Amino acid sequence: MATKKRPPFGGFYNPLSREDDTELTRVGPGTPCGDYLRRYWQPIALVSEVKEMPIPIRVLGEDLVLFRDKSGDLGLVHRHCSHRGTSLEYGIIAEHGIRCAYHGWLYNVDGTVEETPSEPPGSRLKESICHGAYRTHEFAGLVFAYMGPPEETPDFPVYDTLVWPDGNHLVPYKLDMPCNWLQVHENAADPIHTAYLHSIVTGVQFTPAFAELPVIEFFETPLGLLSVATRRCADNLWIRASDVILPNVAQFGTGFVDGSKEKFALCAAFTRWIVPVDDTNCWVIGVRHFNDVIDPRREGREEDIGLGKIDLMGQTDERPYIDRQKSPGDWDAMVAQGPIAIHRNEHLCSTDKGIAQLRRQLRNGIGAVRSGAVPAQPRLYGTGIVPTYNNETILNVPRTTADDTTVLRDFGRKVCAEAIRSEPLPVGERQEQVEKAVRALQAEGAFYPQAAAPAQNFAEGAVNV
Ligand code: FES
Ligand SMILES: [Fe+2]
Repeated sequence: MATKKRPPFGGFYNPLSREDDTELTRVGPGTPCGDYLRRYWQPIALVSEVKEMPIPIRVLGEDLVLFRDKSGDLGLVHRHCSHRGTSLEYGIIAEHGIRCAYHGWLYNVDGTVEETPSEPPGSRLKESICHGAYRTHEFAGLVFAYMGPPEETPDFPVYDTLVWPDGNHLVPYKLDMPCNWLQVHENAADPIHTAYLHSIVTGVQFTPAFAELPVIEFFETPLGLLSVATRRCADNLWIRASDVILPNVAQFGTGFVDGSKEKFALCAAFTRWIVPVDDTNCWVIGVRHFNDVIDPRREGREEDIGLGKIDLMGQTDERPYIDRQKSPGDWDAMVAQGPIAIHRNEHLCSTDKGIAQLRRQLRNGIGAVRSGAVPAQPRLYGTGIVPTYNNETILNVPRTTADDTTVLRDFGRKVCAEAIRSEPLPVGERQEQVEKAVRALQAEGAFYPQAAAPAQNFAEGAVNV
């Protein structure tokens, strides 16, 4: 919402609001957004973080303890013992579960109280109590938790990018962000910043190709949004189409595109979740993908990926402050929006259609949960795989006398339409089929304005603020 216009030199007239958009930003137990996010599997740790000792951990404003018992099962339980509240971070790992150090109560990983050792024989106290606990699942080097109603636990969604192409190597990572989750997630629906923040204003952070201002568009998908930036790179056009998946997942292409060679990659370089620790802290947690389709020149650096690190400049605060002031990265831009970005003080513009649409989609999901419905979950096809639409496409489409902005827009629309249309195909066939369809369009010159209009149903999916 725009604030009232000040006069010049009118800092005195301070119309700034301090009220945040609580429906979207507050995540603790019982809050609308907190209840919504709890309906989805969330990554909460790297598997490598879980060693022999319990880990105190805060997720969605709840103090918890994560541990692996001696039988190998993971446990995620409320931090404070159900007896008299000491922290189970001092608990002793048992064969099955964890034993509180203070008076010896033993909890299984599902919260069942197995022993209350100082109770008299025949005591049924333990049967009357169940300690707070959550289901966990290990996948791709990440520990996931489901913190919603246990009777409504959804299937664990395996996105197709995580299992394709064959031999895709996933490297988990986790970064701390001292700010609200939403402003970090919104970065995925803000593709124009990749030109300004990562090149035009601050100097080249990734590759010079990012400095070319893209045509940006946003399309609704069954998962949320496809955030599309299409740029010209000499005689080639480059699409960077990023999945923004409800409620807090996103996928991206690589950071090292130079646009010089044709490329067709219906897959991702990053799949990441923005998981709230509490209202003013979150994690970027996910996986980097290593395969010959998304990264044929193997420019990724596996050794720079893991706990607190990623092989992309500007994603942490590790650089000296003066360097971050001269060339701020994503971390600086997002954290500097404040502990919780105040939407009432923003002035959204034409490039913020994705932000507006993402907020609308989130409010719809939150409203569904509030009204007692089960929110939409990713659709699983065939063998339980979720089709996604992320693509990094570079194709030879030389500049002509045709209006190039129109060419870029049509190209982005048509390629992404093929990616979306192909979703019922088996995971191994989609890339081949979509590439074939796009090559056919390229051969018939369909990316120039005089060619047929883009598919009607897809064009109608374009988002209006
Ligand atoms: S406080 Fe945990 S057993 Fe007493
Ligand atoms: Fe960025």
